Amino acid sequence: PVADRVQDLLARMSVEEKVGQMMQLDARDGVDDHVLRTHVGSILHASPERVLRAHELTAQTRLGIPLLVAEDCIHGHSFWAGATIFPTQLAMAASWDAELVERVARATAVEAAATGVHWTFSPVLCIARDLRWGRVDETFGEDPVLIGELASAMVRGYQGDGLTDPTAVLATAKHFAGYSETQGGRDASEADLSRRKLRSWFLPPFERVAREGCRTFMLGYQTMDGVPITVNEWLLDEVLREEWGYTGTLVTDWDNVGRMVWEQKVQPDHMHAAAAAVRAGNDMIMTTPGFYEGALEALRTGLLAEADLDAAVARILTLKVELGLFEDPRRPDVATQERVIASAEHTRLNLEVARRSLVLLRNDGVLPLTGGYAASTSGADLAPAVGGDSTPRRVAVVGPLADDAQTQLGDWAGSSGQADWLPDGHPREAITTVLDGLRGVAPEGWTVTHARGADILTLEPDPDGATFPDGQPRPPVVVPAAPDEALIAEAVAAARDADYVVAVVGDRIELVGEGRSTATLELIGGQAAMLDALAATGTPLVVILLASKPLVLPESALGAHALVWAGNPGMRGGQAIAELLLGVVEPSGRLPISFARHAGQQPTYYNQVRGQHGDRYADLTQRPAYAFGEGLSYTDVAYSDVRLDRATATAADVVRASLTLRNTGARPSRETVQLYVSDAVTSVSWADQELKAFTQVDVPAGAEVEVTLELAVAECTVVDAAGRRVVEPGEITVLVGPSSRAENLRRATFVITD
Ligand code: IFM
Repeated sequence: PVADRVQDLLARMSVEEKVGQMMQLDARDGVDDHVLRTHVGSILHASPERVLRAHELTAQTRLGIPLLVAEDCIHGHSFWAGATIFPTQLAMAASWDAELVERVARATAVEAAATGVHWTFSPVLCIARDLRWGRVDETFGEDPVLIGELASAMVRGYQGDGLTDPTAVLATAKHFAGYSETQGGRDASEADLSRRKLRSWFLPPFERVAREGCRTFMLGYQTMDGVPITVNEWLLDEVLREEWGYTGTLVTDWDNVGRMVWEQKVQPDHMHAAAAAVRAGNDMIMTTPGFYEGALEALRTGLLAEADLDAAVARILTLKVELGLFEDPRRPDVATQERVIASAEHTRLNLEVARRSLVLLRNDGVLPLTGGYAASTSGADLAPAVGGDSTPRRVAVVGPLADDAQTQLGDWAGSSGQADWLPDGHPREAITTVLDGLRGVAPEGWTVTHARGADILTLEPDPDGATFPDGQPRPPVVVPAAPDEALIAEAVAAARDADYVVAVVGDRIELVGEGRSTATLELIGGQAAMLDALAATGTPLVVILLASKPLVLPESALGAHALVWAGNPGMRGGQAIAELLLGVVEPSGRLPISFARHAGQQPTYYNQVRGQHGDRYADLTQRPAYAFGEGLSYTDVAYSDVRLDRATATAADVVRASLTLRNTGARPSRETVQLYVSDAVTSVSWADQELKAFTQVDVPAGAEVEVTLELAVAECTVVDAAGRRVVEPGEITVLVGPSSRAENLRRATFVITD
């Protein structure tokens, strides 16, 4: 039995070996010292050579306790040159398809396991509310139910059929909890959260994956109520371990323990910081080399009890035993890598998920450019195929991101801002940009021209100095590029010479990621001026937004003939976009997050707590530019009134909501039918509208389809003033429709009885 093996090992370990097991160090610093002197339990960011070396050294240690090899495989194996890089989490969330997301995680696990990785720091369960935050792209958006659904799928995909499966990779639910609730969108700032607010919105997705078997949790960087999350005993012990019964492992974020000393300044030294972290229930301490001496000193002085240390070490050893690492450390395997990394199967899946992630936000009828009939939405075939109108057309593909392979991959993609990290890039030919895609997919006889049209930014040294207090280099600051008249003139000439102009605009990696939040949300550089000039040509303008997160768009984009949000759509994104424009596939993505009209209009998330009369701006509507759940197809689907199967219900019941969808157009649609609830009177102020269920259904051209969604009344909860999640008696309005917009929703009511 696992527990006996763990206890037997513990009994034979020295305190130095125990403290070492709790440490995870950066393999880029070398592994010899980590293993031989510090007895590390885990390494991260290791090249295959370092992984092999570390295993070899570990096998020679007194007890030969195997290493856990961790890596950030965020939307694909982020640091492996040539690995399949999928759309980012936020882009994938637009598919609203848990099964698809699970397959992406499975493929990622298979690729990662072949390189010797046992543990990925994914998925992110943070709720994206302030769009200025640099890590919005890493989230599943703004809704706790959608996040919980997709995150659980991702965990299932990573962990596969159980930890003994050699392709299983430990999933990490991160960043526990409330890390995204920043000040001014600035990453890792104080989180302004109460326990009740946490329980209301931020904890439910984490609770769900904890109960469903996610094996590791990572803590955020933030402090809450003055206490770093790293030592928040209420959250880690009372809520996570006691209330939810979580038996998995907790890993800190990068140097969280050291940060309490040198950054947050809430601990005088590493001895106190180490003792506090272990007592609060942390198991794996990420990249705090000083933890080793600090924890040993704390044990010597009695600040830390060995029993607390043992509890953490036991949890780490349990994982290692369960993974079977004592029998097989799962070394990198070149033959398997050659077979699975970027395999044809994974590439097909990548195209499929990219197709499903695109959100058509506006279309005055210009799309599809062929006016042709779509082949299918299943996306099984990589070969371009365009039907319909065969009149040859001229398409001008313009904009700074039209041929930008890096932006297409987004953050955590090796070739991104972290190019100096592990294998440093992906083969250019593995990535289809929008320009490549249109050139590849356009029917014979069509012409595709290209002009850059604008620059986005340049970088300058940070005026605050070259390094942070810990000596790490400070990233450069972004300076928006000035509009360039010559570039704009080139784009305008291309547009004038074309039947359609496709403008690809958005943000770049320098504006995205950890520590890269933005004060503004506008399209920066010469992009807006370019769009204005293009709009003035009169050539039908299609805007493709390759933007990691929702941006604030100029009128020329909001009023363009068509507008598509693609997020960072991954290696096959350009092909998927081209196929959508040409009608090879049907648009089916729906926004997992709202678009603001102005950076100062935030927050714009749909499920805000009911406001009062003054809760508005005098100079701007509070309606978002595009709302959660929104997205168009190439056809019209009418939603009938909604019928409930009961008028009253108790908390133990399930209410069924049925309706009919009627496709009145000539093309098929994949509808994402969304069910929200609104609780008439609550004992505390509460959101006016909350997503509770959704389903996807294919509605063929001209067809009628019956849909039934189930609402468990037990899910119709509020968190009361005492912080308890309760079902309160009273009237519930069920709202069903194709988006969160009130005007799109059909309503019916039932009453919850005592
Ligand atoms: O996993 C990440 C985390 O999301 C942010 N800080 C660094 C970790 C390891 O790379």
